[in-house]
Amino acid sequence: MTDVLQLLRNHRSIRKFTTEPIGDAMLQSIVEAGQAASTSSYIQAVSVVRVRQAKQRSAFAELAGGQPYIETAAEFLVFCADLHRNRNRVEAASDNHADYSWVEQFTAATVDVALFAQNVVIAAESLGLGCCYIGGIRNAPDRVTELLELPELVYPVFGLCLGYPDQNPDTKPRLPVASVLHQDRYLSPQVHKELLDQYDTNVKEYYIKRTKGKLSFTWSEQMAKQVQNQKRPFMESYLKKQGFMIK
Ligand SMILES: Cc1cc2nc3c(=O)[nH]c(=O)nc-3n(C[C@H](O)[C@H](O)[C@H](O)COP(=O)(O)O)c2cc1C
Repeated sequence: MTDVLQLLRNHRSIRKFTTEPIGDAMLQSIVEAGQAASTSSYIQAVSVVRVRQAKQRSAFAELAGGQPYIETAAEFLVFCADLHRNRNRVEAASDNHADYSWVEQFTAATVDVALFAQNVVIAAESLGLGCCYIGGIRNAPDRVTELLELPELVYPVFGLCLGYPDQNPDTKPRLPVASVLHQDRYLSPQVHKELLDQYDTNVKEYYIKRTKGKLSFTWSEQMAKQVQNQKRPFMESYLKKQGFMIK
């Protein structure tokens, strides 16, 4: 296996960090690695806000539902989809109104952010750092917009904690390859069920081992729990307010 494959397969989220800082030069090269990712039609629709002030960090930790590692990580970055920059440039150059309110543009910008951020994570992990994405910041998108003074056509997709790991968790078992890599056509329901039943057993064993018996649930049980309540129903109106997804 190559070093890169080894690195990718060794990923696990890190939620406990040492106090060692990340140097500016290292942070810069990590962000440059993010920028090197492919970008839909060259739009480069990404802005990253580095949150440094302790007060801001505490506000983020709280609005994300009480996630203390946001405060203790060496760096906390907020990844935003950003079509504001593009619109301003187009309008300044042509005097024409530039319409960035289509669902397709929102999708392209969001995909850009995900590709950029995952490059950042891989680059960081290759340098011995650990990371944890923080989708919890979408609990309060209006507050994030206010804290970071985000203009129209910018929205926060997720945060990312970065730092030197102070824990060494096991990797979390993923779905069997056969259930995600379909051959010529989508898997038959019977084969799919057999694969997922086996996977559920593996995940349950993983949780029992990881928590010394305190937690014991399957992947399917976890997924069922997630859809019991409405998930951030305010996102649609928030995104429209920011100028996205109107058409
Ligand atoms: C977009 C996104 C948002 C996430 N948000 C959170 C979060 O708010 N808090 C957290 O502790 N982990 C968060 N995670 C981490 C996932 O829980 C984690 O990646 C998943 O359980 C798989 O575990 P692993 O990364 O250790 O392999 C997030 C991951 C992604 C991709």
